Amino acid sequence: MTARVIDGKAFAARLRDRIADHAHAFEERAGRKAGLAVVLVGEDPASEVYVRSKARATVEAGMASFEFKLPADAAEAELLDRIAKLNADPAVDGILVQLPLPRHMNEDKVIAAIDPNKDVDGFHVVNAGRLAVGQHGFVPCTPLGCLMLLKDQLGSLEGLDAVVIGRSNIVGKPMAALLTRENATVTLAHSRTKDLPDVVRRADIVVAAVGRPGMVRGSWIKPGAIVLDVGINRVEGEGGKTRLVGDVAYDEAKEVAGAITPVPGGVGPMTIAVLLRNTVVSAYRREGLDLPKDAI
Ligand code: GUN
Repeated sequence: MTARVIDGKAFAARLRDRIADHAHAFEERAGRKAGLAVVLVGEDPASEVYVRSKARATVEAGMASFEFKLPADAAEAELLDRIAKLNADPAVDGILVQLPLPRHMNEDKVIAAIDPNKDVDGFHVVNAGRLAVGQHGFVPCTPLGCLMLLKDQLGSLEGLDAVVIGRSNIVGKPMAALLTRENATVTLAHSRTKDLPDVVRRADIVVAAVGRPGMVRGSWIKPGAIVLDVGINRVEGEGGKTRLVGDVAYDEAKEVAGAITPVPGGVGPMTIAVLLRNTVVSAYRREGLDLPKDAI
């Protein structure tokens, strides 16, 4: 059997269309556009590409994009001052500070300065806490995108065995919390997990987010399982060209899995779409307008 290939790019495009409808409806009701502010410190080329794509997608969805660039040697106080201004600005519904930050800045301190009700990345400890105890808050974009793909594939996740590989604050931990909320039975595995292949073999759902190219082998996958590959690893391919590969040995796993996300074009495109979703949800909340539950 060959796995169904989950087309994250097409799914994300449909999601962005729905978000654009809600963004236009918001503008009619609130008399202003929903707004996302993105702050970039320094000139990391990959970060510059991400920030540009976020800004373009924001405008395409009918929202306002506010971009701020600070030099790599800017003082941390300057960034904190910018965040304070954005917290106070009524036109700003979402604030994203692009990570990683230069080494002289304390990421925890910077994230803590963002108003949790504008923290569309879901990185603030208040939002991590809300997710952990089951309150409404912002959920990090990549794991929320993974959950949307899973629910689209499976409908209910109730009672299924899920294994998340990787325990980062941005993907692994929130992913485990979301799967738990959906009544899956969740194992959060990581680099020190004993007998990882056997742990993964039990899973109906595998989410790989470790950052090690091709680590999850086809022989680890239970036949028919759903495999989501969050890894984005640059490796040297033929002729010295770099190419992107995931954390899953795709060619092997697709012969065993029931469904699998490719890299690129699987989970990746979901991240920006969910960022736009979180921003429009924030705009509705901040204006006291109701967005139908599960609308997006
Ligand atoms: N750097 C890489 N991905 C992300 C993300 O989703 N949010 C932020 N703020 N920085 C990132």
